Amino acid sequence: MGQDLSRIASVYDVVAEEYAKEFSGEHEKKPRDQQVLLEFAQKIGRRSPVWDLGCGPGHTASYLKNLGVDISGLDLSAKILEQARLHHPDIHFQEGNILDLEFNDDSLAGVVAFYSMVHFTEGQIEVALSEIYRVLQPQGILLLTYHVGSETIHLEEFLNKQIDVDFMFCSTDFISSSLTKIGFTGIEISEREPYPGVEYQSRRAYVFARKPIS
Ligand SMILES: C[S@@+](CC[C@H](N)C(=O)[O-])C[C@H]1O[C@@H](n2cnc3c(N)ncnc32)[C@H](O)[C@@H]1O
Repeated sequence: MGQDLSRIASVYDVVAEEYAKEFSGEHEKKPRDQQVLLEFAQKIGRRSPVWDLGCGPGHTASYLKNLGVDISGLDLSAKILEQARLHHPDIHFQEGNILDLEFNDDSLAGVVAFYSMVHFTEGQIEVALSEIYRVLQPQGILLLTYHVGSETIHLEEFLNKQIDVDFMFCSTDFISSSLTKIGFTGIEISEREPYPGVEYQSRRAYVFARKPIS
């Protein structure tokens, strides 16, 4: 069934300002992030529209915009979107739900989703990936990241604020088989060890996948 979406939204409402402070410069400290974001920008080229789903305070969208990508951001949390608009006034951000996207079929050239599915059950991840597949144009590209593992971490405090939410890691076998089952092709998944002193010490995965020409 999964966690209540309003609970997830309220967590990011509560930590919005602190989250923006903590994570806004993160790609600058993570060489592998920089590599995959550049690769994504090169693959997308001038194609549009591209959306950052679960964009948080908008730093990934901004990084890609600086690489020439025509990108917008979508998130569940109204307060984190306020931070995104404050820090990146040149980017369009809107409220929405990855599990029920309001985009037409075959309408997006690209989707990035950095750690946006950390609160989803496996069933919800499959719904989200199916939604992304539905809205991508043929030859549209997905770049997804996640924490690798099988654990669920329950947090009652995050960035010095009281919260009550589960963070779920997931296995690369599961992501790979879900993407294949849904119909994605060109699936490339790479993993890396955490960067010491820079981020939460979990193994990270980066996924590129493409919607085929039907
Ligand atoms: C761990 S944060 C990642 C934020 C940002 N992508 C980053 O890398 O820092 C998860 C984000 O996904 C958003 N989110 C969670 N569930 C969502 C849903 N169903 N639809 C849209 N956004 C969602 C949260 O509000 C939050 O901003």
